[in-house]
Amino acid sequence: MSKETDKPTQMARLILPEKEVELPIVIGTEDEHAIDITNLRADTGYITLDDGYRNTGSVKSDITYIDGEQGILRYRGIPIEQLAEHSTFVETAMLLINGELPSRENLAQFRASLTEHEMIHEGMRHSFAGVPPSGHPMATLSAMINTLSCYNTDVMRMEDELTFENAAARLMSKIRTVAAAAFKTSVGEPMMYPHPELSYCRNFLHMMFSIPYKDYEPDPDEVRALRLFLILHADHEQNCSTATVRMVGSSGANLFASCAAGVCALWGPLHGGANVMVVEQLERIHKLGMTVEQLVERVKRKEERLYGFGHAVYKSYDPRAHILRDHAPKVLSKLTVNDPLLNIARRMEETALNDDYFVSRNLYPNVDFYSGVLLRAMGIPVNMYTVMFAIGRLPGWIAHWKEVHDGETRINRPRQVYMGAVKRDYVPVDQR
Ligand code: CMC
Repeated sequence: MSKETDKPTQMARLILPEKEVELPIVIGTEDEHAIDITNLRADTGYITLDDGYRNTGSVKSDITYIDGEQGILRYRGIPIEQLAEHSTFVETAMLLINGELPSRENLAQFRASLTEHEMIHEGMRHSFAGVPPSGHPMATLSAMINTLSCYNTDVMRMEDELTFENAAARLMSKIRTVAAAAFKTSVGEPMMYPHPELSYCRNFLHMMFSIPYKDYEPDPDEVRALRLFLILHADHEQNCSTATVRMVGSSGANLFASCAAGVCALWGPLHGGANVMVVEQLERIHKLGMTVEQLVERVKRKEERLYGFGHAVYKSYDPRAHILRDHAPKVLSKLTVNDPLLNIARRMEETALNDDYFVSRNLYPNVDFYSGVLLRAMGIPVNMYTVMFAIGRLPGWIAHWKEVHDGETRINRPRQVYMGAVKRDYVPVDQR
């Protein structure tokens, strides 16, 4: 649990019509202040009302720090820029899940464990066979993560640390295999077995793009781009899908079931599904020969949203978008891809950032704005973009699930202010 600062407890005073109460102020390690209302209802009969939990701290967490005003993101205290430059996805995952950067030996052990668990049970081929090719890979991914729990019953109950480590490694390893198999199912190609010699990212690309008679040899820049994409998506504190994982986990549901729920939450176009919407919007501009100004005018008339812009927490430039904006052109030029969508995206950014509609509302590019262009350059099909996000976000979900499991969190149960009909009698159908 969180290490609060040593400062003496300060109190907030709340004046209600009937009485005045004092509420403790909780101060986080980065000096964030929160008013602890845990006992408010018991002491006063009042609850707080905060539509969509936008001003509610639902947990004290040690995992990720965001300063939305200054555009800061740190995993376990380490700036995202440093991890993006120096780390690997597996190492970043270990940092998030265990709280510390791993030793060389621990890293090697975890990598070996990922390799050991990279296969899925052959029986799962029948599950994939039952999925129609037109099915969305996100639906398949969520269903198959739940199906994995049927084949990994020995790690459903977390009795000790070793069982947790085993479950985390299995899930992290198998999500790649399942995601690639979901893609192969959707295009009617045979599922590829993982290759034990390949790194996490390369292995995924192999399962996506190799075919039985021809191994896929990705460009090293493509592997690096995938690594960067996954690191940047690995955690983002109490976002919609992570809050979902925590909510489900708080009932005591197992890790696999909780993460399957996270996949469903991620799918929505306002969350992880935005990376698809961005590219579709840019493609539409390109195909219809629209100008970016024409699209911006439609957005300002509220006829559509500008996808990849705006954020619930960042009221400045999303640091992940910064990194991707700098990186995308380099990857595209190294892979000798000349994508007109990159130029449209850049013009769109420039136009929006000089327009009062966006400036006055603090709407800046978010992580999804440039990620689609990067995934396109890697040949990842559009319907897999949010699946890629899910692979990246999994370590975060696992870390948060663990925090719930190990902590004193009670079952999550928000309250409501009921605004419906007051008591009335049932009317038989012939009298209505
Ligand atoms: N395009 C046009 N207008 C926008 C946008 C946008 N993308 N985002 C916010 N606004 C406007 C909104 O209409 C409102 O205007 P007004 O004050 O006139 O009513 C104002 O800005 C405040 O918006 P809000 O809906 O209160 O903002 P929010 O913080 O609730 O929404 C958001 C955050 C991410 C859902 C929203 O910005 C959005 O829909 N963005 C597009 C979808 C997107 O890119 N999502 C990815 C988020 S980052 C990655 C992730 O979480 O997965």
